[in-house]
Amino acid sequence: MVVANWKMYKTLDEALAFLQAFPLEAEGVEDVEVVICPPFISLADFSRRLAGGSLILGAQNMHWEKEGAYTGEISPPMLRELGVRYVIIGHSERRNFFGESDRVVRNKVEAALTYGLFPILCLGENWDQFNNGQTQDVLKNQLLLALEKISPKGELIPNLVVAYEPIWAIGTGTPATGQTASDVAGYLRGLLKELLGGVADNIRILYGGSVNPENILEYVGKPDVDGALIGGSSLKAQSFAEMARAVSGERRG
Ligand code: 13P
Repeated sequence: MVVANWKMYKTLDEALAFLQAFPLEAEGVEDVEVVICPPFISLADFSRRLAGGSLILGAQNMHWEKEGAYTGEISPPMLRELGVRYVIIGHSERRNFFGESDRVVRNKVEAALTYGLFPILCLGENWDQFNNGQTQDVLKNQLLLALEKISPKGELIPNLVVAYEPIWAIGTGTPATGQTASDVAGYLRGLLKELLGGVADNIRILYGGSVNPENILEYVGKPDVDGALIGGSSLKAQSFAEMARAVSGERRG
């Protein structure tokens, strides 16, 4: 699975230009779920243009209520209506710049599953925590709080996607090593199994943080790493397609 998180980049015109260029660039990509999470303003147009195609639509955030007096917010049914399948939840930029707490993240994960969306739950430690060997503690705490309301028996658990995004690797050009990403993903898989049982084998775990066409195969395909969540390098059709092609080639062996 490769997921483009465009953050606050691209006007509608710029987004549509990407969409026009991408299919040609990505010709031959098979067996890889390719997801694009543009800014909200592009979702309606994307939804019409992607209908019936293989590109899958995601959103970068949402509120947890069905509707209400929440100025500036977007609800799960609004996303569903546009054919959005995935929604990124708890990205460190939302936690750090917009004060999103673990409680809010938990509400959003629960709401996404309830409304038939697939949450991409982001977890990650900062540089000091990484250096002090606190990565596992930080991630465990974030994961337990985020999944507090999720029943281990829930049939929808396989819809959950977890992304390990070390904050120090996001947008810095200094990614985690493939070994670190794989070790952390393995640790998260173990925690998910403890919490949810065998179904955790079906939960996809992504790595995100300075992934690019040159390094993507250091991550995807390593034990327990099922895909990548990509910021900067997903903004150009050619570069995003290159990463999708690399993963597709890896899967075909
Ligand atoms: P970069 O790929 O730009 O480091 O961003 C990663 C990210 O935050 C994806 O959600």
